[in-house]
Amino acid sequence: MDLTPFNLTNTILLGAGPINCSERVLRALSMQTMGPVDKAAIELMDETKEMLKKVFHTTNRLTFPQQTSGSGGLETVVSNILEPGDKLIVAIGGVWGERTADIAEIYKAEVVRLRKETGEVYSLDELEKEIAKHRPKLLFITHGESSTGVLQPLEGLADICHKYNCLLAVDAIITLCSDPLYVDHWKLDIVVGGTQKAVGAPPGFALLTFSPRAEKVILERKTPVPFYFNVKGIANYWNCLDGQRHYYYTYSTNMIAALREALAEKLEEGMENVWNRHRTVSTHLWKRMESIGLKLFIQKEKNRLHSINTYVLPDGIEWTVLLDHVYEKYNISLSFGIGPTANRAIRVGLMGVNSRMAMVDHIVKVLEESIAHCRSNGRGNVKNQ
Ligand SMILES: Cc1ncc(COP(=O)(O)O)c(C=O)c1O
Repeated sequence: MDLTPFNLTNTILLGAGPINCSERVLRALSMQTMGPVDKAAIELMDETKEMLKKVFHTTNRLTFPQQTSGSGGLETVVSNILEPGDKLIVAIGGVWGERTADIAEIYKAEVVRLRKETGEVYSLDELEKEIAKHRPKLLFITHGESSTGVLQPLEGLADICHKYNCLLAVDAIITLCSDPLYVDHWKLDIVVGGTQKAVGAPPGFALLTFSPRAEKVILERKTPVPFYFNVKGIANYWNCLDGQRHYYYTYSTNMIAALREALAEKLEEGMENVWNRHRTVSTHLWKRMESIGLKLFIQKEKNRLHSINTYVLPDGIEWTVLLDHVYEKYNISLSFGIGPTANRAIRVGLMGVNSRMAMVDHIVKVLEESIAHCRSNGRGNVKNQ
């Protein structure tokens, strides 16, 4: 066994996330660890929480990072909002809506699954019809479906939900810091963000915010919540609720520090500027990819994310071979399709520090050469050469 330090590679991460971290974020990660309730750790937590509110555009007091991954954030929402027998509508657009519906079934909620043709978004009218028909306690919708590359509009939806006494929960794991998101202005009740996508920190947290309406449901629920997902306990540690702050479980202060720097960088740049940069860079990618014959998977421009860009797999090319070649020759990690895009598309993510014009030019050249290479090898099976 080789016990010398592992030789970490500096891969360019242009897939569906995680993405590369900035130098500032990496420096924060390498700082000395702190005790979970040390004065400095508390200061770090308080600053991070306030920055998170700004990035979410919310004044919700129940806003905090949870030590888990994005999926853990989805489970937290389901387990804290729903009680056995409660009804939930999931407006599914791909893998992540399906996952949330599966989690809700584990918690014995009554789940109504809506499905949509891939590439299409839900209209307010059709969602209102379903809410009026089923009268759920919660509507869950994915803002950015990273499995397909679709951006679901949210404006106006909360008013419809509230008309029927229904809460609105949103998966913004891919959209936070890449596409506009206004939690308070859009009256969203519950939002889950991720750290490892456009936010630009490593994976390890779900970023959560709950409106006063959602907070009331959590505080008044009758049945218990699993310890690790219990919002009351975690929120107390983050000092979101009245009362004395108590340790709940040991957080990685290195990770909080990294997240703080990632959020600070976004706020320094300005959220509108961050969103515009992602929009400009994605739009540039769409044009440049067209010039090498790659076709976008999502036809309607208004339905596309500005973070993950899905491309139809060129004829005669196996994605395993193409992505292996890109990884081995150029040290770039791209993502294959999953769920509705499995074996049909590849996913190119330009997020955070990688959302740059120069990166567009680089990846276009790399893909042009790699596709030509695969074609010159029949189905391009470089492994069998
Ligand atoms: C939109 C969306 N939701 C949920 C998840 C799950 O997050 P995680 O892998 O951090 O558990 C992902 C991950 O790619 C995602 O893109």
